Amino acid sequence: MKNILVTGANGQIGSELVDKLETMSGLENIVASDVNPPAKFSAAFENVDVTNKEQLQKTIEKYGIDTIFHLASILSVKGEENSDQAWNINMNGLKNVLDLAREFNIKIFWPSSIAVFGPNTPKNNTPQDTILDPYTMYGITKLSGEFLCHYYFIKFGIDVRSVRYPGIISNKTKPGGGTTDYAVDIFYGAVSKNEYTCFVGPKTRLPMMYMPDAIRAAIEIMKVDESKVPIHTSYNLAAISPSVEEIAFEIQKKIPDFNCYYDPDFRQRIADSWPQVIDDSRARTDWNWKHDYDLPSIVDDMLEKLAQKYHRIR
Ligand SMILES: NC(=O)c1ccc[n+]([C@@H]2O[C@H](COP(=O)([O-])OP(=O)(O)OC[C@H]3O[C@@H](n4cnc5c(N)ncnc54)[C@H](O)[C@@H]3O)[C@@H](O)[C@H]2O)c1
Repeated sequence: MKNILVTGANGQIGSELVDKLETMSGLENIVASDVNPPAKFSAAFENVDVTNKEQLQKTIEKYGIDTIFHLASILSVKGEENSDQAWNINMNGLKNVLDLAREFNIKIFWPSSIAVFGPNTPKNNTPQDTILDPYTMYGITKLSGEFLCHYYFIKFGIDVRSVRYPGIISNKTKPGGGTTDYAVDIFYGAVSKNEYTCFVGPKTRLPMMYMPDAIRAAIEIMKVDESKVPIHTSYNLAAISPSVEEIAFEIQKKIPDFNCYYDPDFRQRIADSWPQVIDDSRARTDWNWKHDYDLPSIVDDMLEKLAQKYHRIR
């Protein structure tokens, strides 16, 4: 891991991954890339559409890329609005990255998602190997992507590593159109106007993780010896599993006049098709995964960072 390309770097995860990589020693080039114009990066930036293999190849050659964190994607809610686009970007983008990994001997990190699970998957302590019957186009591309990665490992020996991220809570870049976006929006609502109307019901419980843990997981799975990563589809990964009302209650401990209202829409059905609590014991055993942030520490940090953002002293 010396010359690193991050695709989809403007996004919720990419923007913070690039920041973190820039603080690490021993790296030569960190190149942020996205189809959209650059966000605020001090790293080099290239406009790369991952469905354009030539653009990707030029960037790989220009910087001698040996590692790609491939994050460019269309998420669950946007994917339902335009399923052809979700299939094209999520599948053809991944295939381009894997084909170039073959040609240039590149190591890949590619995140899958809890969206690979579906209505018939066990909802509690969802095992690593279980029923995978995704309900969304996004989930279908993640499941197909997992098997594509596995195929490239078996057939061509590509070192591709993956985790099934839960919903990610963060405060730098707003989420890009997923079903778990409420777990971020609720904090913005609390800090900016003391209220939030949630698009899923109060009892909705989904697996979540704080961004610093999500970034650390990506870097740690990429750093460990290959022998410690025997799963070549994707690892279950977990941290916390609060219901919406439990998040709201924890926020009310800090902001007593905060009110959460509920107005469930079509996203409730997607949320209901996903597991509530994930069993990530394989990640914990194989490469020593451990999350740091629980719900109270996430709430403390989110409210502090967002209060700074909104210049409000609490
Ligand atoms: N954020 C989460 O809660 C979450 C949970 C599970 C999995 N993931 C996965 O993690 C990865 C990153 O997610 P995110 O939340 O940062 O997504 P995001 O929507 O915030 O960012 C995705 C980025 O990809 C870019 N992009 C879209 N089409 C592109 C194209 N054709 N070429 C290049 N870039 C393109 C967008 O401009 C955007 O900046 C995705 O694979 C996503 O499926 C995220």
